[in-house]
Amino acid sequence: MERLQKYMARSGVASRRKSEELIATGHVKVNGMTVTEMGYKVSGNDIVEVDGKIVEIKDLCYLAMNKPRGIISSANDEKDRKTVISILPKELRDCRLFPVGRLDYDTKGIILLTNDGEFMNALVGPKSNLEKEYVVRVEGIFKKEDAKKIALGVNIGDYVTRKCYCELLSVDKENNSSSVKVIIKEGKYHQVKRMFSSIGFPVKRLTRTRFGEITIEGIAEGEVRYLTPHEVKRLLVQAKEVKTKK
Ligand code: URA
Repeated sequence: MERLQKYMARSGVASRRKSEELIATGHVKVNGMTVTEMGYKVSGNDIVEVDGKIVEIKDLCYLAMNKPRGIISSANDEKDRKTVISILPKELRDCRLFPVGRLDYDTKGIILLTNDGEFMNALVGPKSNLEKEYVVRVEGIFKKEDAKKIALGVNIGDYVTRKCYCELLSVDKENNSSSVKVIIKEGKYHQVKRMFSSIGFPVKRLTRTRFGEITIEGIAEGEVRYLTPHEVKRLLVQAKEVKTKK
């Protein structure tokens, strides 16, 4: 038995909070009866309906994709551009998968896909403490002092970023560009691009090389692999790890 809102979130209907709203506002029936009570528990034998549509618990699926540039990281796109779902192998396209967080259209690298709403919320919700590692190609000659600035936290307009890891990897004087590694635990909108721009280094190319312990190694661009049950567990544990102070 599990709480109704958890059952709904797990089946991909909506996030747990949104499911609670749906329950409270009378959209949900269990075995034909409207349920508005939050602690209500259901099992696999119960028939749950949202606005008359039966909620089916499906097999949970967890994938890691190496997203190429030029792909939208949402389930669908109003301009009909390619998405992380539309480039999946045929047999996975109808599994109601969605991306765990976002990567910009022009960012490549690791992105997880799932049909487990609870998992997604735990990993990218405001309380998540998962590490995201990026390799950033910036315009200009980046110095160790600049890495220090990024590591200490920078003002990106509406927010001062938390302390993070930042390391200068290489400098290409001929092309006036540098390669930098950064590991952050937050996930604000365009965060990495804004962090580097804020200290005068526009981002030319961005690659996410790691999400938690999941790396792009062994996954060709545009391809996916299944996460193991152990990897899924580890991601949930790491997301819950206590935040270190600024
Ligand atoms: N930060 C960005 O600026 N873009 C991304 O795609 C991911 C992190």
